[in-house]
Amino acid sequence: MNSSVITAPSILAADFAEILSGIRRIESAGADWIHLDVMDGAFVPNISFGPKMVTDIRSRTELPLDVHLMVDRPERFVRDYAEAGADFITIHLEATVHAHRTLQQIRELGCKPGISIVPSTPVEALTEILDEIELLLIMTVNPGFGGQTLIPRGIGKVSRAAELRRQRDLSYHISVDGGVNRDTAGDLRHAGADVLVSGSAFFDAPDPAQYLRTLAGR
Ligand code: DX5
Ligand code: ZN
Repeated sequence: MNSSVITAPSILAADFAEILSGIRRIESAGADWIHLDVMDGAFVPNISFGPKMVTDIRSRTELPLDVHLMVDRPERFVRDYAEAGADFITIHLEATVHAHRTLQQIRELGCKPGISIVPSTPVEALTEILDEIELLLIMTVNPGFGGQTLIPRGIGKVSRAAELRRQRDLSYHISVDGGVNRDTAGDLRHAGADVLVSGSAFFDAPDPAQYLRTLAGR
């Protein structure tokens, strides 16, 4: 069980015409990070926003920006997101042949590198690059849309990621994204997740601060 869980509301679920009020909702609820979902309409069947959104959000908040790139061949874009002010840049293993090189590029650009896997990719596919990452993002829905239901097998993947972290004496964050809410957070924390991303359940919560305390198990 992890006692110091980081909460990362996803701006994807905010009203994009009122983005500043979405940022203020995240801040005033006491969130630790802001999660930003970049979708290209190719790697995933949806388009969200690009680096300008990250630049503009960076100019309005001090919270760490956790950028999740759901884009094909992310090596083409990591510099743009680093320059936009990302703190973490997470790429998908499935989106590039050159994950190792791209993670190194992210670090050279001064950001913290993260790797993400979709539900059909086993955690074991990451064994050769675990030394390169600061964050392992386990998708517990098929990426592309908020508001989906968590796929239960994802909880076992969190446990295996935590076991590998122990065995290899590493310290990467284990983040979970997709279908995180009051009902699923406890099992995820228990399995070893230390970052919980939440989109629709956060923006639907009547009391967002209390919701985040529940997510974090506080
Ligand atoms: C899905 C995105 C998620 C999404 C989560 O492709 O990566 O970050 O915003 O949304 P919820 O919490 O609604 O499942
Ligand atoms: Zn995400």
